[in-house]
Amino acid sequence: MGARPDTAVRSERLRVLVTGHDGYIGRVLTRVLEEAGHVIGGVDSGYYADCGFDAPARADPAASAPRSDVRDLTVDDLAGWDAVVHLAALCNDPVGDLSNEWTHDINHAGAVHVARLARDAGVKRFLFASSCSVYGDAGTDTELSETSAVRPLTAYAVSKARAEEDLAALAGPGFSPVFLRNGSVYGLSPRFRADIVLNNLVCWAVTTGQVTMFTDGTPWRPLVHVEDVSRAFLTVLTAPRDAVHNEVFNVGVPGENYQVADLAAIVCSAVPGSRIGLVPHAGGDMRDYRVSFAKLASRLPEFTPRWCAADGACEVRDGLRAAGVSQDDFQGPRFTRLARLRQLIDAGAVDSSLRMRQVEGASSR
Ligand SMILES: NC(=O)c1ccc[n+]([C@@H]2O[C@H](COP(=O)([O-])OP(=O)(O)OC[C@H]3O[C@@H](n4cnc5c(N)ncnc54)[C@H](O)[C@@H]3O)[C@@H](O)[C@H]2O)c1
Repeated sequence: MGARPDTAVRSERLRVLVTGHDGYIGRVLTRVLEEAGHVIGGVDSGYYADCGFDAPARADPAASAPRSDVRDLTVDDLAGWDAVVHLAALCNDPVGDLSNEWTHDINHAGAVHVARLARDAGVKRFLFASSCSVYGDAGTDTELSETSAVRPLTAYAVSKARAEEDLAALAGPGFSPVFLRNGSVYGLSPRFRADIVLNNLVCWAVTTGQVTMFTDGTPWRPLVHVEDVSRAFLTVLTAPRDAVHNEVFNVGVPGENYQVADLAAIVCSAVPGSRIGLVPHAGGDMRDYRVSFAKLASRLPEFTPRWCAADGACEVRDGLRAAGVSQDDFQGPRFTRLARLRQLIDAGAVDSSLRMRQVEGASSR
């Protein structure tokens, strides 16, 4: 390891280690990478191992990798990989609020730990899954670019912003971190999540007939399908080093910034008979940002997104109906991460540092 230069890697069969491979994005990303011919390994604590549409996990090398915590990896675990895609994190903003300490420990310190090991093991490229949440309450209608100020509002967003800073300091001739600030992701995955905005609105519509918004509908969000996120990661993995070395990319699709009320209207159209409902004084979530995806589109034109929010709402509607998901299901530990982590804590399946105590976690059902 370490002798091969990181230049034009487009046609190579890469060995890629994906942390958090058993999560919402990870399960789609590993499929996309495998279909592109790359060799995939995985590291995941298994918090959500029996959650989702298709438990138990499919039998592939990544999905069947032994469960382990990124905080406990050693340099030997990173040796022999061409690239690391670091997805493992406590996400999203509400989950991050469970404990500032865990969120810092896993999302910030954990990411820096893995990146240092990767650099020391001779891994050339390190893709860090960051978030547009770092923009916080932008306070402007102008679309934010990668050079706009970050204003993280939550422990989750702070952990991502701090990790970006520390990882950038590790960049060097033999090690290229790349920062992918994902928009709010939607769409089906074997590890489907009901706690992200578009998926959540469709869950409400399909199971109750009411599209329930937990804001006044005015905040802006950039939306991106989980398959398009995965294709963006694939593009960055195989791009020439000079195009991506130590660069930040907002990951999303031009024209796919929406106010939450627009999303609710899209969902109403996708689920005929449903109507919009508002939770009075829901408060809490102050995030409000519109994001530009011009850099990704111009710097890496090979990335061709295929989805829009309206098509995604129909896809999720059909998936929920086919699986017979109920309101209790989507609000419970099978599809809502905060509920799942609370279940693991209550069952004593994790220790005081949120490390899994045993291989088989508490059942999600
Ligand atoms: N889903 C979104 O809307 C979104 C948006 C922006 C950014 N992101 C980022 O993308 C990444 C993946 O998100 P996701 O939606 O797939 O999340 P997810 O919660 O579905 O998956 C994360 C995975 O990481 C694993 N994990 C957590 N802590 C770990 C640890 N200490 N050691 C090993 N594994 C650990 C979990 O078991 C889980 O399988 C995250 O870094 C997230 O912050 C997601």
